[in-house]
Amino acid sequence: MQDAHGREITYLRISVTDRCNFRCRYCSRPSQLLPRDRIMTFEDIVTLVKASQRLGFRKVRLTGGEPLLRQDIGELVSMLHGLGIRVSLTTNGSLLALKSRELKSAGLDSINVSLDFVDPVKFTYMDGGDVALVLRGIEAAVASDLETKINVVFTAKHERRDLVELLHLAESLGTPFRFIELMPKNGSSFNELFRPIGEAKSMLESITTLAPDEVPPDSGPVEYYVTAQGVKVGLIAFFSMNKCLNCNRLRVGSNGVIYPCLFRTAQVDALERLRSGVDGAVSALLEALSIKPLHGNPEEIGPEMQEIGG
Ligand code: 5AD
Ligand code: SF4
Repeated sequence: MQDAHGREITYLRISVTDRCNFRCRYCSRPSQLLPRDRIMTFEDIVTLVKASQRLGFRKVRLTGGEPLLRQDIGELVSMLHGLGIRVSLTTNGSLLALKSRELKSAGLDSINVSLDFVDPVKFTYMDGGDVALVLRGIEAAVASDLETKINVVFTAKHERRDLVELLHLAESLGTPFRFIELMPKNGSSFNELFRPIGEAKSMLESITTLAPDEVPPDSGPVEYYVTAQGVKVGLIAFFSMNKCLNCNRLRVGSNGVIYPCLFRTAQVDALERLRSGVDGAVSALLEALSIKPLHGNPEEIGPEMQEIGG
């Protein structure tokens, strides 16, 4: 389905919980957690995804908070897979060693795991969790044959040695790595942590060579390169790459609120309409598409990261 600016919008990101067991420094948290009855049920999510399919959406991504904290997440994946849409998930990886087989057999098509540092001290400083759990989770995902990508939020804390470690890991696992430029959000320590994504590129080029690689369809604001060792490296930056024209997505909070843009306050509260059925959900999605802006405005604080999972 095209938005008012002629962009083909085919990708729906759905937060399934606002709870998280990590405390990433750059992640902005809402001041209060939602009461349970304001969180979408699996039935609400299925209605939303059916409606999106009517409008030509081809891919959904489950996010959080931390989506694996949601009870029976495998069941939800299997319900969505049964609708015939591509299903991906973004996780902090802490519970992945426990859940990867279940997710694979539920029909999950791919998974993105966040890993900012291999170094345990730096990891805990940045993310507030245990890197050993995440590394075990990533290995389990790869061993379960899930198509796995690693996301690194690139910050001023990254030194050359950290990228060397991350590239080594990517090489041994055979997984693509994507470096994401920090986005300005409330409480994201933006001024202290921001560093332009171009510096990740030059740091990588001081370690290896980067040859431009093809960008798969439906992948949004990303550039791909391949290193001399054959590692696929993506660079993602919403602002410094000026990629809003490539934007292909809508985001939905775990409370059923649709956010047309990360950097706009415009929103459509769809929960009641989802509960009225697929036609109601279609009308809410159409309303969100009609107000999707051409560009984000970094001055405009939109949804919190923990509400929509990046
Ligand atoms: N800027 C960029 N990415 C962020 N994420 C969370 N907060 C930010 C931010 N301020 C990303 C994390 C995680 C995903 C859920 O969202 O990388 O992988
Ligand atoms: Fe949790 Fe993800 Fe936010 Fe980190 S970025 S605190 S893992 S929701």
